[in-house]
Amino acid sequence: MAKLLIRDLAGVVSPAGTHAPLRGPAGMSKLDAYEDAYVLCEDGRLSAVGRMSDLGALDGDVEELDGRGRSVVPGLVDCHTHACFAGDRADEFSRRAAGATYEELHAAGGGILSTVGATRAAGEEGLAVALARHRAWMLAAGTTTFEAKSGYGLDRDTELAQLRVIREAGGIPTWLGAHAVPPEFPDADAYLDFALEEVLPEAARLAEAADVFLERSAFDAAHARRYLVACRDAGLSLRLHADQFTEGGGIQLAIELGARSVDHLEATGPEGVQALARSDVAAVLLPVAAVFLGRPMPPGHDLLEAGAIVALATDFNPGSAFCERLPVAMTLACTQMGLGPVAALAACTVNAAHVLGRADRVGRIAPGYDADLVLLDTRDWRHLAYHFAGDIVAAVIKDGVVAWTR
Ligand code: NIG
Ligand code: FE
Repeated sequence: MAKLLIRDLAGVVSPAGTHAPLRGPAGMSKLDAYEDAYVLCEDGRLSAVGRMSDLGALDGDVEELDGRGRSVVPGLVDCHTHACFAGDRADEFSRRAAGATYEELHAAGGGILSTVGATRAAGEEGLAVALARHRAWMLAAGTTTFEAKSGYGLDRDTELAQLRVIREAGGIPTWLGAHAVPPEFPDADAYLDFALEEVLPEAARLAEAADVFLERSAFDAAHARRYLVACRDAGLSLRLHADQFTEGGGIQLAIELGARSVDHLEATGPEGVQALARSDVAAVLLPVAAVFLGRPMPPGHDLLEAGAIVALATDFNPGSAFCERLPVAMTLACTQMGLGPVAALAACTVNAAHVLGRADRVGRIAPGYDADLVLLDTRDWRHLAYHFAGDIVAAVIKDGVVAWTR
């Protein structure tokens, strides 16, 4: 494989060091930064980074990219998406604008269940086409590693098809087998009987983690415990959607079961913040979903100050967060939650990679890591968060190859 050299860069920045996860204001505010710099990729890995003045002669085929006036950050890691869906919810979006709430629409059989209908109807090929389109959007916004959840099938065939399609698209699959109770089951327990008996054995072979929507309109803490314990016993790591609308005991359950993360937290109070800070469960913040549904922001600043593991993701989905752009989540983290750009960058690189169990491979610019990079059309990388929804990604490099260019 040829070498790729990005040369004459105004700046290269990466969360400092090699340790993961990062926590606390001090831990999340350090960068390894170079000015007038280069990055060299070889065989899909980063082989060197440094100042131009230290770049020696290179032998063999070398493809060069001009970095003048530009900066580079690590490829972004989106650790929470629902990108494998068919159809859209533009009607629901309009009804919410006229006053209907997300929870009301869900209770009336719309919301998640309307995407379940479209996803079941799409078939595996249709889903692959939809995910390829969404994947291209994410890549153009700088995401080089993404997780995606099932949860829009809620029957055996469609759940497993979602997991296969996510894998084949290069995503990291999470089995969200407990997202909603589909209409063919009388209650959550009857649905879980089916899901754990009929779907889990194969889902555990395809997915890396399991996830549950713990909320008054979906699954309660007892259901969530039953589902997560069975998934853990089948070898999956655990994630939870919790405290989105109400505090329902998700944080305590996540800590007790040793979950990787608890995600959303818009309704989390001071006790939840302190409990997370004392634990190794990551807090995955989804500020786009909070804005999109007109909900309060999660207590990002308090979590950071208290020393919790803070990660940032899009929650990209057709209902609560129709947005695939991590830089928008970074802007919201800075303007609405009191994170600085450096902490926001760490939250969607190193710490997001930690949530996905890949912090030794992605999320940093240092020799040995995967050659995943975002080239920005700005000398000051902070424009990634500062330029709200700005079109500043010049190129995206995945595994040492230019995967997207403007
Ligand atoms: O993370 N809240 C539950 N699940 C998703 C939304 C899914 C949907 O509305 O389709 C979320 O917000
Ligand atoms: Fe979600």
